Amino acid sequence: MMGIGVSELKKTTLLVILVAVWALALAGPAQAGHGGEKAMKKGILLVTFGTSIDRAAKAFDMIDAATKARFPGVAVRWAYTAKIIRDKLAKQGRSIDSPAVALAKMGEEGFTHVAVQSLHVIPGYEFDDLAATAKAFEGLPEGIERISLGQPLIAGPDDMTRLAKAVLADLPAERKKDEAVVFMGHGTHHPAGAAYPAMAYVFKQADPLTVVGTVEGFPEIDQVKAELLAMKVKTAWLIPLMSVAGDHAMNDMAGGEDDSWKSILTKAGIECKPVLKGLAENPQVVDIWLDHLATAYDRLN
Ligand code: CO
Repeated sequence: MMGIGVSELKKTTLLVILVAVWALALAGPAQAGHGGEKAMKKGILLVTFGTSIDRAAKAFDMIDAATKARFPGVAVRWAYTAKIIRDKLAKQGRSIDSPAVALAKMGEEGFTHVAVQSLHVIPGYEFDDLAATAKAFEGLPEGIERISLGQPLIAGPDDMTRLAKAVLADLPAERKKDEAVVFMGHGTHHPAGAAYPAMAYVFKQADPLTVVGTVEGFPEIDQVKAELLAMKVKTAWLIPLMSVAGDHAMNDMAGGEDDSWKSILTKAGIECKPVLKGLAENPQVVDIWLDHLATAYDRLN
Protein backbone atom coordinates (compact mmCIF):
# COMPACT_ATOMS: atom_id res chain seq x y z
CA MET A 1 0.00 0.00 0.00
CA MET A 2 1.29 3.43 -0.92
CA GLY A 3 0.47 6.59 1.07
CA ILE A 4 -2.05 5.47 3.73
CA GLY A 5 -0.92 2.51 5.87
CA VAL A 6 -3.17 -0.37 6.94
CA SER A 7 -3.61 0.92 10.50
CA GLU A 8 -4.44 4.35 9.12
CA LEU A 9 -7.19 2.84 6.91
CA LYS A 10 -8.66 1.02 9.90
CA LYS A 11 -8.75 4.32 11.84
CA THR A 12 -10.54 6.06 8.96
CA THR A 13 -13.10 3.22 8.71
CA LEU A 14 -13.73 3.35 12.45
CA LEU A 15 -14.21 7.12 12.28
CA VAL A 16 -16.74 6.76 9.44
CA ILE A 17 -18.69 4.16 11.46
CA LEU A 18 -18.69 6.39 14.56
CA VAL A 19 -19.94 9.38 12.59
CA ALA A 20 -22.67 7.24 11.02
CA VAL A 21 -23.86 5.94 14.40
CA TRP A 22 -23.85 9.45 15.83
CA ALA A 23 -25.86 10.77 12.85
CA LEU A 24 -28.44 7.96 13.28
CA ALA A 25 -28.78 8.75 16.97
CA LEU A 26 -29.40 12.41 16.14
CA ALA A 27 -32.07 11.52 13.60
CA GLY A 28 -34.54 10.92 16.42
CA PRO A 29 -36.89 8.18 17.59
CA ALA A 30 -38.40 7.48 14.17
CA GLN A 31 -35.03 6.25 12.92
CA ALA A 32 -33.50 5.00 16.17
CA GLY A 33 -36.15 2.37 16.97
CA HIS A 34 -35.46 -1.31 16.44
CA GLY A 35 -37.57 -1.66 13.34
CA GLY A 36 -37.00 1.80 11.89
CA GLU A 37 -39.99 3.87 10.72
CA LYS A 38 -43.43 2.20 10.94
CA ALA A 39 -45.33 1.74 7.71
CA MET A 40 -48.45 3.93 7.53
CA LYS A 41 -51.57 1.97 8.45
CA LYS A 42 -54.89 3.82 8.43
CA GLY A 43 -58.03 2.76 10.23
CA ILE A 44 -61.50 3.96 11.20
CA LEU A 45 -63.12 3.78 14.61
CA LEU A 46 -66.88 4.34 14.76
CA VAL A 47 -68.12 5.38 18.19
CA THR A 48 -71.71 5.35 19.39
CA PHE A 49 -73.46 5.48 22.76
CA GLY A 50 -74.45 1.90 22.01
CA THR A 51 -77.59 -0.15 22.34
CA SER A 52 -78.58 -3.48 23.78
CA ILE A 53 -81.62 -3.75 21.53
CA ASP A 54 -81.12 -6.11 18.57
CA ARG A 55 -83.29 -4.18 16.14
CA ALA A 56 -81.38 -0.99 16.91
CA ALA A 57 -78.05 -2.78 16.58
CA LYS A 58 -79.04 -3.73 13.02
CA ALA A 59 -78.91 -0.02 12.16
CA PHE A 60 -75.26 -0.08 13.21
CA ASP A 61 -74.66 -2.98 10.82
CA MET A 62 -76.01 -0.77 8.05
CA ILE A 63 -73.61 2.04 9.03
CA ASP A 64 -70.76 -0.47 9.13
CA ALA A 65 -71.56 -1.62 5.57
CA ALA A 66 -71.95 1.97 4.31
CA THR A 67 -68.59 2.92 5.87
CA LYS A 68 -66.79 -0.05 4.30
CA ALA A 69 -68.35 0.75 0.92
CA ARG A 70 -67.19 4.37 1.12
CA PHE A 71 -63.68 3.52 2.44
CA PRO A 72 -62.81 0.27 0.65
CA GLY A 73 -59.94 -1.71 2.16
CA VAL A 74 -59.84 0.37 5.35
CA ALA A 75 -60.32 -1.49 8.66
CA VAL A 76 -63.47 -0.37 10.50
CA ARG A 77 -63.73 -0.88 14.26
CA TRP A 78 -66.52 -0.06 16.72
CA ALA A 79 -66.70 1.23 20.27
CA TYR A 80 -69.62 2.00 22.60
CA THR A 81 -69.28 4.89 25.05
CA ALA A 82 -71.98 3.60 27.46
CA LYS A 83 -70.45 1.36 30.12
CA ILE A 84 -73.91 0.24 31.26
CA ILE A 85 -74.60 -1.15 27.78
CA ARG A 86 -71.14 -2.72 27.38
CA ASP A 87 -71.60 -4.48 30.75
CA LYS A 88 -75.08 -5.70 29.76
CA LEU A 89 -73.79 -7.08 26.45
CA ALA A 90 -70.76 -8.68 28.13
CA LYS A 91 -73.17 -10.70 30.30
CA GLN A 92 -74.75 -11.98 27.06
CA GLY A 93 -71.30 -12.94 25.80
CA ARG A 94 -70.91 -9.99 23.42
CA SER A 95 -67.78 -8.01 24.15
CA ILE A 96 -67.77 -4.43 22.80
CA ASP A 97 -64.83 -2.10 23.45
CA SER A 98 -64.86 1.34 25.02
CA PRO A 99 -63.20 4.02 22.84
CA ALA A 100 -60.05 3.84 25.03
CA VAL A 101 -59.74 0.05 24.74
CA ALA A 102 -60.46 0.14 21.00
CA LEU A 103 -57.74 2.77 20.43
CA ALA A 104 -55.25 0.86 22.61
CA LYS A 105 -55.90 -2.29 20.57
CA MET A 106 -55.52 -0.42 17.27
CA GLY A 107 -52.21 1.03 18.46
CA GLU A 108 -51.05 -2.46 19.41
CA GLU A 109 -52.07 -3.74 15.96
CA GLY A 110 -49.84 -1.19 14.28
CA PHE A 111 -52.40 1.39 13.14
CA THR A 112 -50.52 4.67 12.69
CA HIS A 113 -53.41 6.92 11.61
CA VAL A 114 -56.98 6.57 12.86
CA ALA A 115 -60.09 8.57 12.01
CA VAL A 116 -62.51 8.39 14.95
CA GLN A 117 -66.11 9.10 13.96
CA SER A 118 -68.65 10.13 16.55
CA LEU A 119 -72.08 8.68 15.78
CA HIS A 120 -73.62 10.97 18.37
CA VAL A 121 -76.31 13.45 17.37
CA ILE A 122 -74.92 16.62 18.96
CA PRO A 123 -71.45 17.59 20.27
CA GLY A 124 -72.44 17.17 23.93
CA TYR A 125 -70.71 15.64 26.96
CA GLU A 126 -70.13 12.26 25.34
CA PHE A 127 -68.50 13.92 22.34
CA ASP A 128 -66.30 16.00 24.68
CA ASP A 129 -65.25 12.79 26.45
CA LEU A 130 -64.49 11.12 23.13
CA ALA A 131 -62.38 14.11 22.05
CA ALA A 132 -60.40 13.87 25.32
CA THR A 133 -59.86 10.12 24.84
CA ALA A 134 -58.76 10.55 21.22
CA LYS A 135 -56.31 13.28 22.24
CA ALA A 136 -54.88 11.13 25.04
CA PHE A 137 -54.15 8.23 22.68
CA GLU A 138 -52.44 10.33 20.01
CA GLY A 139 -48.65 10.19 19.83
CA LEU A 140 -48.00 7.62 22.57
CA PRO A 141 -44.73 5.69 22.20
CA GLU A 142 -45.23 2.81 19.74
CA GLY A 143 -48.88 3.85 19.48
CA ILE A 144 -51.06 5.70 16.97
CA GLU A 145 -49.25 8.71 15.53
CA ARG A 146 -52.26 10.70 14.42
CA ILE A 147 -55.91 10.59 15.45
CA SER A 148 -58.50 12.74 13.73
CA LEU A 149 -61.99 13.14 15.19
CA GLY A 150 -65.09 13.49 13.00
CA GLN A 151 -67.94 15.78 14.08
CA PRO A 152 -71.26 14.29 15.25
CA LEU A 153 -74.45 14.55 13.18
CA ILE A 154 -75.36 18.16 13.96
CA ALA A 155 -72.19 20.22 13.72
CA GLY A 156 -73.61 23.34 12.10
CA PRO A 157 -76.48 24.95 10.16
CA ASP A 158 -75.76 22.99 6.95
CA ASP A 159 -76.12 19.70 8.85
CA MET A 160 -79.40 20.90 10.36
CA THR A 161 -80.85 21.68 6.94
CA ARG A 162 -79.69 18.33 5.53
CA LEU A 163 -80.97 16.45 8.57
CA ALA A 164 -84.41 18.09 8.43
CA LYS A 165 -84.68 17.32 4.72
CA ALA A 166 -83.62 13.68 5.20
CA VAL A 167 -85.97 13.10 8.14
CA LEU A 168 -89.00 14.82 6.56
CA ALA A 169 -88.50 12.84 3.34
CA ASP A 170 -88.63 9.67 5.43
CA LEU A 171 -91.95 10.37 7.24
CA PRO A 172 -94.55 7.58 7.03
CA ALA A 173 -96.59 7.89 3.84
CA GLU A 174 -99.78 7.60 5.94
CA ARG A 175 -99.13 10.92 7.66
CA LYS A 176 -101.86 13.37 6.60
CA LYS A 177 -101.21 17.09 6.04
CA ASP A 178 -103.18 18.17 9.14
CA GLU A 179 -101.35 15.76 11.46
CA ALA A 180 -98.46 16.99 13.60
CA VAL A 181 -95.03 15.37 13.80
CA VAL A 182 -93.25 15.36 17.16
CA PHE A 183 -89.53 14.64 17.17
CA MET A 184 -88.06 13.34 20.42
CA GLY A 185 -84.41 14.24 20.90
CA HIS A 186 -82.35 13.05 23.84
CA GLY A 187 -81.52 16.50 25.25
CA THR A 188 -78.75 17.65 27.54
CA HIS A 189 -77.70 20.50 29.83
CA HIS A 190 -74.51 20.87 27.78
CA PRO A 191 -74.44 24.15 25.79
CA ALA A 192 -74.65 22.04 22.59
CA GLY A 193 -78.25 21.26 23.65
CA ALA A 194 -79.14 24.52 21.86
CA ALA A 195 -79.15 22.35 18.74
CA TYR A 196 -82.63 21.05 19.66
CA PRO A 197 -84.54 24.38 19.60
CA ALA A 198 -82.44 25.26 16.54
CA MET A 199 -83.59 22.03 14.85
CA ALA A 200 -87.18 22.87 15.84
CA TYR A 201 -86.81 26.14 13.95
CA VAL A 202 -85.33 24.44 10.86
CA PHE A 203 -88.06 21.76 10.86
CA LYS A 204 -90.81 24.36 11.22
CA GLN A 205 -89.50 26.32 8.24
CA ALA A 206 -89.98 23.19 6.15
CA ASP A 207 -93.17 21.90 7.80
CA PRO A 208 -95.23 24.11 10.16
CA LEU A 209 -96.80 21.13 11.95
CA THR A 210 -93.50 19.82 13.35
CA VAL A 211 -92.43 20.09 17.00
CA VAL A 212 -89.13 19.13 18.66
CA GLY A 213 -88.86 18.09 22.30
CA THR A 214 -86.29 16.26 24.43
CA VAL A 215 -86.29 13.61 27.14
CA GLU A 216 -83.55 15.11 29.31
CA GLY A 217 -83.20 18.74 28.23
CA PHE A 218 -84.96 21.65 26.55
CA PRO A 219 -87.66 21.84 25.20
CA GLU A 220 -89.57 19.48 27.52
CA ILE A 221 -92.73 17.46 26.92
CA ASP A 222 -94.91 20.13 28.63
CA GLN A 223 -93.76 22.63 26.02
CA VAL A 224 -94.39 20.10 23.25
CA LYS A 225 -97.90 19.51 24.58
CA ALA A 226 -98.64 23.25 24.80
CA GLU A 227 -97.42 23.74 21.24
CA LEU A 228 -99.58 20.90 19.92
CA LEU A 229 -102.66 22.21 21.76
CA ALA A 230 -102.03 25.69 20.31
CA MET A 231 -101.89 24.11 16.83
CA LYS A 232 -105.25 22.44 17.53
CA VAL A 233 -104.10 19.18 15.94
CA LYS A 234 -105.99 15.94 16.60
CA THR A 235 -103.18 13.55 15.71
CA ALA A 236 -99.41 13.55 16.27
CA TRP A 237 -96.77 11.21 14.92
CA LEU A 238 -94.03 10.55 17.49
CA ILE A 239 -90.60 10.02 15.97
CA PRO A 240 -87.21 9.62 17.69
CA LEU A 241 -84.53 12.20 16.84
CA MET A 242 -81.93 9.78 18.17
CA SER A 243 -79.48 7.51 16.41
CA VAL A 244 -81.44 4.41 17.38
CA ALA A 245 -84.98 3.71 18.58
CA GLY A 246 -83.75 2.31 21.88
CA ASP A 247 -84.90 2.50 25.47
CA HIS A 248 -85.97 6.17 25.40
CA ALA A 249 -87.98 5.73 22.20
CA MET A 250 -89.64 2.50 23.32
CA ASN A 251 -90.42 3.59 26.88
CA ASP A 252 -90.29 7.39 27.32
CA MET A 253 -91.80 8.09 23.90
CA ALA A 254 -94.06 5.18 22.98
CA GLY A 255 -94.40 3.27 26.27
CA GLY A 256 -97.59 2.58 28.21
CA GLU A 257 -96.51 4.22 31.50
CA ASP A 258 -98.38 7.34 32.66
CA ASP A 259 -95.38 9.59 32.07
CA SER A 260 -94.59 8.49 28.51
CA TRP A 261 -95.11 11.12 25.80
CA LYS A 262 -97.75 8.92 24.24
CA SER A 263 -99.72 8.76 27.51
CA ILE A 264 -99.33 12.48 28.28
CA LEU A 265 -100.43 13.58 24.81
CA THR A 266 -103.23 11.02 24.58
CA LYS A 267 -104.58 12.34 27.89
CA ALA A 268 -104.48 15.85 26.36
CA GLY A 269 -106.77 14.61 23.58
CA ILE A 270 -104.16 14.06 20.89
CA GLU A 271 -104.09 10.72 19.14
CA CYS A 272 -100.50 9.42 19.01
CA LYS A 273 -98.83 7.37 16.32
CA PRO A 274 -95.32 6.38 17.42
CA VAL A 275 -92.71 5.32 14.87
CA LEU A 276 -89.91 3.19 16.29
CA LYS A 277 -87.19 4.03 13.82
CA GLY A 278 -83.86 5.66 14.62
CA LEU A 279 -81.86 8.17 12.57
CA ALA A 280 -79.23 5.51 11.85
CA GLU A 281 -81.86 3.63 9.83
CA ASN A 282 -82.11 6.50 7.34
CA PRO A 283 -79.36 6.27 4.65
CA GLN A 284 -79.53 10.03 3.93
CA VAL A 285 -78.83 10.72 7.61
CA VAL A 286 -75.99 8.19 7.66
CA ASP A 287 -74.47 10.09 4.72
CA ILE A 288 -74.13 13.20 6.93
CA TRP A 289 -72.11 11.21 9.49
CA LEU A 290 -70.01 9.67 6.71
CA ASP A 291 -69.30 13.09 5.18
CA HIS A 292 -67.95 14.17 8.58
CA LEU A 293 -65.87 10.98 8.66
CA ALA A 294 -64.50 11.74 5.19
CA THR A 295 -63.38 15.19 6.42
CA ALA A 296 -61.67 13.60 9.43
CA TYR A 297 -60.09 10.89 7.27
CA ASP A 298 -58.69 13.47 4.82
CA ARG A 299 -57.10 15.31 7.76
CA LEU A 300 -54.97 12.23 8.52
CA ASN A 301 -52.73 13.04 5.53
CO1 CO B 1 -80.72 9.03 28.36
